[in-house]
Amino acid sequence: MTTSSSVRPARTPRKEPVFPPDLLSDQVVIVTGGGSGLGLAMSQGLCRAGAQVVICGRNPERLGKAVETLRSLGGKVSAIPCDVREPAEIDRLVQQTVEQHGKIDGLVNNAAGNFLCAAEDLSAGGFDAVVKIVLYGSVNATLAVGKHLIARGAPGSVLSILTPYAWTGSAFVLPSACAKAGVLAMTRSLAVEWGMYGIRCNAIAPGPFPTEGAWSRLVPEASMIEGLVEQRVPMGRVGEHSELANLAVFLMSDASPYQNGDCVTIDGGSWLSGAGEFSEYTRYDRERLKLLFRAMRPKKGS
Ligand code: HXC
Ligand code: NAP
Repeated sequence: MTTSSSVRPARTPRKEPVFPPDLLSDQVVIVTGGGSGLGLAMSQGLCRAGAQVVICGRNPERLGKAVETLRSLGGKVSAIPCDVREPAEIDRLVQQTVEQHGKIDGLVNNAAGNFLCAAEDLSAGGFDAVVKIVLYGSVNATLAVGKHLIARGAPGSVLSILTPYAWTGSAFVLPSACAKAGVLAMTRSLAVEWGMYGIRCNAIAPGPFPTEGAWSRLVPEASMIEGLVEQRVPMGRVGEHSELANLAVFLMSDASPYQNGDCVTIDGGSWLSGAGEFSEYTRYDRERLKLLFRAMRPKKGS
């Protein structure tokens, strides 16, 4: 039997910038949740390709630090605190972006919420918390940016960050699976409806890419993710942030003008070798699993 220790080393991701520094030089792109993790990595990729990037999130301090990182790359960057669940805050985000950057050409729906919870223990508020960020947040931002593009008569690009369990489902992340499936439906619906306006809607479905935000909520013990990668990822490793950033830049740019309504998977082949990212956790004793999930919940007031 092949184990991960006998997986042959594949080609390693290129470290130097892949795209010309002016690929996106006339583009203004909003990245929701751009202050941390994969949103920040994609914002860095967009900046390196010459885009003006506007990041948003709920935590102004985190946004401030991210803006410093992005400005060091040389681009014009803004941070606008915004809760994507609130349509009025999204309208303000669009208005302030236009005031500060003159226009909007693209949107990356990256903001998300997630946690592990057995479905029978999930409260109505817990379901709402995730669905409102992921599904409502993506719809709110997409409609507001779409209206701006249509009113301007300009082409544009909307890219939504999903996960392969958007179409396979997964144990223990029911609200996220439902919400990501909804965002995939939005992507495909608007690709057809807005194609005539030159607005492309695509998605990326990443497999495991370590981030503080995801790992603190989705990995109860390090051995569990190690086991998951070993069992499920044919390439035998997790993703590198630059690999996702390169794909995002490609899909946002004129290098892919005929790509519309697509969802590109970037997971080392893992969903094909076993559906449902966290379904593997069903192999663990359920009561022990529930104790681990409870221990991961933030304490009230923290
Ligand atoms: C069960 C929980 C819970 C948990 C919160 N709730 N955490 N239920 N288990 N761990 C419930 C609460 O009891 C409450 O319901 C409701 O959710 C709202 O809780 P709040 O703490 O008020 O929520 P809020 O402050 O809005 O925070 C939203 C959040 C939080 C989603 C709960 O985790 C967050 O802010 N996340 C943002 C970042 C994030 O999640 N990043 C990871 C993305 S990774 P009641 O009914 O009691 O009122 C990702 C990867 C996908 O998506 C694929 C990986 C391969
Ligand atoms: P992360 O660092 O926790 O990113 C989530 C971001 O969303 C944060 O910056 C957060 O900022 C923002 N956010 C949450 N709620 C918001 C709200 N209501 N309004 C505005 N912003 C909000 O986690 P990540 O791993 O980078 O995840 C990024 C994206 O990749 C998500 O869509 C996730 O589902 C997807 N993904 C990740 C993986 C992975 O392995 N990491 C795999 C598949 C898909 P604030 O808290 O400051 O608001």
